[in-house]
Amino acid sequence: MIHLRSVQKSYRRGAESVLACAVDRLDIAAGEQVALVGRSGTGKTTLLHILAGILRPDSGEVEIVGRRLDTLSEAQRDRHRGRHIGMVYQTFNLLQPFTALENVLLGALFGRGADSQARVRAEALLEQVGLGDRMHHRPRELSVGQVQRVAICRALVNDPEVVLMDEPLGNQDKATGGQVLDLLLQIASHGKKTVVMVTHDPESAKRMQRTVDLATLRGEIAVGGGR
Ligand SMILES: Nc1ncnc2c1ncn2[C@@H]1O[C@H](COP(=O)(O)OP(=O)(O)OP(=O)(O)O)[C@@H](O)[C@H]1O
Ligand SMILES: [Mg+2]
Repeated sequence: MIHLRSVQKSYRRGAESVLACAVDRLDIAAGEQVALVGRSGTGKTTLLHILAGILRPDSGEVEIVGRRLDTLSEAQRDRHRGRHIGMVYQTFNLLQPFTALENVLLGALFGRGADSQARVRAEALLEQVGLGDRMHHRPRELSVGQVQRVAICRALVNDPEVVLMDEPLGNQDKATGGQVLDLLLQIASHGKKTVVMVTHDPESAKRMQRTVDLATLRGEIAVGGGR
């Protein structure tokens, strides 16, 4: 479902180039639930953005849900993401003028369409994460943990084949985080979804089928600190 080969992404800052992410090889099968771990600054967010098609790698091959993203244009990658990939951003990226329900429906608009069925799905998801009585609140009228749960609903509303999540439970208390993870894994298993979840929490990582440490993916590239 996900295949990466010799992927590298650097950011240029003036004359300087910062190697943000290097993956020699990564394969994730359809339906696998993977925890992505690694120290702060090792490139986890950069990798998720490459998988989502938000960023294009400088070199290497990226295949996800049957498409080679590295050969697609930005508009093609955006369409592919809308149809097949649900993304929970580390910074949530909810739109402030819109309510929780509208933010989830905006996710549908970029995917299968914000029709009446999408509204039913959006409302059901918000209910399931405990926000049934907060659907018409705007992000600033929600707690950080609640905003994060809205972002999870937005990622799931299109029933995507792949769900990419950047520390989706980082602002939840233990009990709520456990419940939301239960729900996520239940939805993922039931829908045979492939899940890649960045987490710093060893307990959450243990609940996934496999843990991938970004530091181990660099292969030969890591030797000598880049090339
Ligand atoms: N726009 C940018 N310009 C220059 N360097 C950047 C830029 N964005 C990220 N970086 C650098 O790239 C590296 C990888 O960043 P990334 O956000 O992917 O790390 P991360 O593993 O997600 O970290 P964290 O666990 O703190 O979220 C970092 O060392 C960071 O300083
Ligand atoms: Mg990050």
